[in-house]
Amino acid sequence: MTSIDADEYRLKMENKDFYLDVIQGLAQVPKRLSSKYFYDKKGDDLFQEIMVSPDYYLTRCEMEIFTCQTKDIADSLTRQKLDFELIELGPGNCAKSVYLLQALTAAGVSFNYIPVDISENIICALQSFLPAKVPGLRFNGLVGDYFNTLASHCLFTERRKVVMCLGGNIGNMTIAESNQFFKKLRGYLQPGDQCIIGFDLVKHPAVIRRAYDDGKGLTREFNLNLLNRINRELEADFRIDQFEHYCSYDPLTGAAKSYLVCLSDMVVHLPGAEIPFEKNECIWTEISQKYSKNQVRQMAIDNGFIHTAEFLDSKLWFMDAIWTAV
Ligand code: AVJ
Repeated sequence: MTSIDADEYRLKMENKDFYLDVIQGLAQVPKRLSSKYFYDKKGDDLFQEIMVSPDYYLTRCEMEIFTCQTKDIADSLTRQKLDFELIELGPGNCAKSVYLLQALTAAGVSFNYIPVDISENIICALQSFLPAKVPGLRFNGLVGDYFNTLASHCLFTERRKVVMCLGGNIGNMTIAESNQFFKKLRGYLQPGDQCIIGFDLVKHPAVIRRAYDDGKGLTREFNLNLLNRINRELEADFRIDQFEHYCSYDPLTGAAKSYLVCLSDMVVHLPGAEIPFEKNECIWTEISQKYSKNQVRQMAIDNGFIHTAEFLDSKLWFMDAIWTAV
């Protein structure tokens, strides 16, 4: 094999799961693509822009909770006076959790901080800048899938655990998927272990719709970028100008959903596959589920937890809930 062949071969292997997911999703009726593939380099950059854009309120609301109620959050996690492992699933750049880490360290609480992410880049970046921001922090970043990493980590320590999952990440699952997620998570925990989970709350439907169809067109670009990524990484031939971003919010179910609408009849090609599209056919690309306060409280009980504390921003738009395993 020449080095170019070897390189091509490696690329194809890396993209195999992506390819299979795309082929399988586009064969479904209605067509589906997973929002987990939004986050290539361009998608990461766009999401950074979305988070600071005026219409996307989630990040600002949760930031307010973590900056204004840091002490109360820290207190509800440390009532048990035991050393613990603070495991953060999907830490991003720790913009919010850093306040909690600083408060806990300053209070002399004994804990290890264990961010878990599928992206090695994220963990490496944290390793390089967090120790300076949080002097004295005991840091042990892990690269991998949430549950596989939790499973092996739990085998390895008996210490009390606090699992943190912030942002609207839980929202990218349907209610049924979230319940499965929490049941599985509960399986890795002991009574007394805790989790702190971010939930975007129901609010005026227009506010929610606007967050997913923002005035700057960032969400539009973010959604369409998925097709660019498929074209580039999977050698597909989507005509991006023939697709449009559309989002809906259903106040009856709390589901905000994003779609890509196909504007004309066409056939899209991928290696080994031809996918017919009809004019106005939609690909469902994302769900961002919103919850009522009572739904969050009930969800704790349904999955083996007690709803121990809740922290809301001043607009009452976002909740970080603390649950204790029973
Ligand atoms: C990263 C899942 C929290 O659903 O609100 C932002 C992603 N999608 N704009 C969300 C997203 C469209 C975001 N989360």
